[in-house]
Amino acid sequence: MRVFVAGATGYVGSAVVRELLESGHDVLGLARSEASADALAKAGVEVHRGDIDDPAGLRAGAAKADGVVFAANKHISETTDSAARARAELNAVEALGAELAGTDRPFVVTSGVLGRAPGRVLTETTPTDPSALTSPRLPVEQAVLAMAGRGVRSSSVRLAPTVHGRGDARGFVSALIGIARAKGVSAFVGDGANRWPAVHRLDAAVLYRLAVESAVAGARLHAVAEEGVPFRDIADAIGRRLELPVVSLTAAEASEHFAGFLAPLVSLDSPASSALTRERLSWSPAHPTLVADIEEGHYFEG
Ligand SMILES: NC(=O)c1ccc[n+]([C@@H]2O[C@H](COP(=O)([O-])OP(=O)(O)OC[C@H]3O[C@@H](n4cnc5c(N)ncnc54)[C@H](OP(=O)(O)O)[C@@H]3O)[C@@H](O)[C@H]2O)c1
Repeated sequence: MRVFVAGATGYVGSAVVRELLESGHDVLGLARSEASADALAKAGVEVHRGDIDDPAGLRAGAAKADGVVFAANKHISETTDSAARARAELNAVEALGAELAGTDRPFVVTSGVLGRAPGRVLTETTPTDPSALTSPRLPVEQAVLAMAGRGVRSSSVRLAPTVHGRGDARGFVSALIGIARAKGVSAFVGDGANRWPAVHRLDAAVLYRLAVESAVAGARLHAVAEEGVPFRDIADAIGRRLELPVVSLTAAEASEHFAGFLAPLVSLDSPASSALTRERLSWSPAHPTLVADIEEGHYFEG
């Protein structure tokens, strides 16, 4: 298949590109800059110049492909307006979906599991908690899955919050390490028993490829290798590597310590299962667990 990938230069998207190429697919990658175009060309990827804010350009990319993966995202460092970032994402997926309508081509879009069913194990069939629907990004998934009724083989890959692995410079694990370094302690909230699911970047990439190849229209897929890693275990692993004290914080202390986008998330208990995803797509995560990956040391190089 020839797959158009938006976000092809990103942490997640570049792994998806490599997985697609290694599995014999061709990739057309969206590049918004000369630097991104160069990086794609070096990786053996055909370049489609454009921007997620340019619907006509996105449609032209999709028109040239047998399927589309959307793993692009305006980064918080570019704009802190999360509603504007979500709107841009929604407009982009609507444009791509309009091009794919009636073709039955695959359209695999990125979403997440965090906060959809706090305190319960989220499955692929659990309705999303209405309180989580205030998240500005959830309408993107809803729009994409609704395209299944318009002749698009659309699916949502819901990533675990910690997509860990080499090259993770801006994900949750690197952010937690950065905060621990800056504050001189590695922290968790309360007893630290709240759970975050995890997935290795390379295992997540395999799931995107399987979704392109064979997910049914409207599938919700969980890129979750570990159902729930207690937050305290993450803090312990970071503290061990940095040789820093590991401390418990109250909720009020945590909102100051983790100031920024992580503050409301660090106390979430948000386990998620991937049993249905594994069964339906024969997905079998094979890469190191989150704590093993932190202990391996690459997060602390350089
Ligand atoms: N990383 C994680 O741990 C994690 C965890 C859960 C969910 N996710 C989700 O996974 C998705 C990808 O995350 P990531 O970590 O791979 O992000 P990333 O490394 O920041 O990559 C973002 C990608 O989007 C592209 N992009 C950004 N703005 C663009 C624009 N205006 N036009 C065209 N392309 C644009 C970037 O291109 P440039 O190279 O040109 O900047 C890059 O290819 C996001 O939806 C994120 O929320 C990530």
